[in-house]
Amino acid sequence: MTLSKTELPKGYVLDVNDDTPVPIVRVLTSEHMEAAIGRVVFVGHFAIYDRIETNLRHRRNGLASIVMKTLEALAINRGIRKGILVATTEGKVLYEKLGWSVYTPYMTAVIPEIKD
Ligand SMILES: CC(C)(COP(=O)(O)OP(=O)(O)OC[C@H]1O[C@@H](n2cnc3c(N)ncnc32)[C@H](O)[C@@H]1OP(=O)(O)O)[C@@H](O)C(=O)NCCC(=O)NCCS
Repeated sequence: MTLSKTELPKGYVLDVNDDTPVPIVRVLTSEHMEAAIGRVVFVGHFAIYDRIETNLRHRRNGLASIVMKTLEALAINRGIRKGILVATTEGKVLYEKLGWSVYTPYMTAVIPEIKD
């Protein structure tokens, strides 16, 4: 599919695999090394964004922002404009810059062992 690549910094290439149940967007270096990646799944009216990550050496170049915008474009192509994700502390700053807001603090609970 054709996507705007105008914001991609020089030396990077956008790779979009939309032909799968879990579309994947990657930013590759000119040597075809993975610099950033993200995934999205569609459930009802929601797009669920997951495992957004930029390789340490390529951070703060806008790559995760481009991955997110490209994933959002895949959702919009399907008529889906609502999104949800669980953010790390680093991710929270990124997503807020992209217009997301906190819905609820996330809490993880574990049970060490289920007794009979
Ligand atoms: C969070 C993460 C994906 C950001 O990737 P990135 O490619 O560096 O992000 P961008 O360059 O697009 O950042 C865009 C903006 O988000 C904010 N931002 C991103 N990372 C930040 C950080 N570590 N600290 C403060 N602000 C940050 C900044 O405002 C930044 O703009 P600026 O560089 O002009 O100040 C990356 O740090 C990462 O992979 N972290 C480990 C995995 C992770 O936590 N992923 C998120 C899962 S929810």
